[in-house]
Amino acid sequence: MAFVVISMVILFIKIKKSNLKHIPGPDVANFLLGHIPLVDFEATHRNLADWSRKYGPVYKLRLLHKHVVVVSGQEALHELLVKKGVQAGGRPDIFRVKYVTENSGVIANVIPDAKWKALRKISQRHLKQFGDGISRLEQLIVSVGDDMLEQFRGTEGVLCDPKQTVLATVMKSISFLLSGQRATDDDPLLNTCKRMEDQVRYLTFNHPVMLIYDCFPWLRFLRLKSWQPIEDLVVTRDKLWKMLKQIATDRPENESLAKLMLSKVSSDDVDSPGDSLREIDANVICLNLTFAGTSTTTCTFYALINLLAHNPNVQEKIYQETCRVLPDGSLVTLQNKPTMPYTSATILEALRYISTVPLGVPHRSIADVEISGFLIPNDTLIFSNLWAIHHDPIVWGDPERFRPERFLDDDGHLVPADHIYRKNLMPFGAGTRVCVGESLAMARLFIWMARLIQTFVIAPAEGNDRIITFCENYIPNGAVLESKPYHVYFSERT
Ligand code: HEM
Repeated sequence: MAFVVISMVILFIKIKKSNLKHIPGPDVANFLLGHIPLVDFEATHRNLADWSRKYGPVYKLRLLHKHVVVVSGQEALHELLVKKGVQAGGRPDIFRVKYVTENSGVIANVIPDAKWKALRKISQRHLKQFGDGISRLEQLIVSVGDDMLEQFRGTEGVLCDPKQTVLATVMKSISFLLSGQRATDDDPLLNTCKRMEDQVRYLTFNHPVMLIYDCFPWLRFLRLKSWQPIEDLVVTRDKLWKMLKQIATDRPENESLAKLMLSKVSSDDVDSPGDSLREIDANVICLNLTFAGTSTTTCTFYALINLLAHNPNVQEKIYQETCRVLPDGSLVTLQNKPTMPYTSATILEALRYISTVPLGVPHRSIADVEISGFLIPNDTLIFSNLWAIHHDPIVWGDPERFRPERFLDDDGHLVPADHIYRKNLMPFGAGTRVCVGESLAMARLFIWMARLIQTFVIAPAEGNDRIITFCENYIPNGAVLESKPYHVYFSERT
């Protein structure tokens, strides 16, 4: 009882007077909890999108003692992420995240400082190899993708949930990026990456229990069950780094991110003068890329397979396009992408429809910043509601329909980058903190989807062939939206 009273008193003290009075928002539901009782944690993105229709592109909420500004709408988001991306380019000071990342890495460091810049540059440079037109890594994407096709081939005639196969495929490409070597299915490195991915989900889960640890960090000393996964994650983080270091030492011929990071740690050769990298920086970068590169692409590709199963007409159009581009039946490569607008449009539509990272990664203002005429003071937590722009009926007309054609013009070409639809599509965020792995993600989705459709017809389970909707089918799991489990048939084309 005393503990509850003390906690309430501390929370009461922490609830600062809001300096966001001029920003609209729903009435506070509860003095201590703020808006928490009003938030549907099963569908936060839709909840926040409904409020943006009522309160406009910039509105405020309070979650316990933290004030949050929610930004939606293309113009407001462009202003926030691109035009004022530096002032709005901090990340929130969340205790549990800082504890695990030691405020290093690319994703979570609180201020985009010289160290962040150097780490982002190293990651980007290494990841670029995986993007458009780079043959060594395209080979890898192709070869792990072909393993996936082989596994689906083995399910012929039997209903199959492709989740674990998709996860393993994505994980193999990330572990290659980190270690420079191909993992087998039972590889300890792959298992450690998988464990870490699960544990990071828990870290990013904005459940009230986690918010309480952020508010009262000392609660961790009580060693409650709810804190243990955070400690486990730190152990896994160090274990993965140790394995990667060992591989880099034993196999110096492997080009890998771990090898590159180790060379930067020992050589002082970073692009931030006088600010050399520590081992923890290298360790956390591996943690960042494992998580950011795995859950996002896995959830997108897993949801995409189900969408294809429910849209046989889309499968047929992709297949016809592959036949036109590759009449000899050879399998699609990235080189074919410019001549495959329908397949590219399907990927864009999937990224819009699924909106795998519905609220982006939270930002924090590091200076006063004006968005859509509203002054957002320094040190304010900001959510970018990407789901809301991707599902705005005023922009899309029928956002609830999965319709790749919307990204094509009358001649069947992809609409240009300044088209209203392309401007309203921000699955990777935009500006200063735009996703580092965008081109890798796009390359993987394109090759894997095109080859999947060249090889199989995908069909839903009997009695489950009605159109699925984004409202019923996707649930938040940490920062990402996940498709509910499903089963499909993969039938090889003859
Ligand atoms: C479909 C796949 C993906 C989606 C939808 C996605 C989406 C996003 C989004 C919305 C952000 C936040 C941008 C912001 O703060 O405004 C982000 C950040 C980030 N993503 Fe991705 N991502 C994907 C794949 C990847 C991959 C494959 C990697 C790396 C292997 C990656 C690495 C990162 C990193 C490191 C950041 C943090 C950037 C920073 O804070 O400077 N992502 N991503």
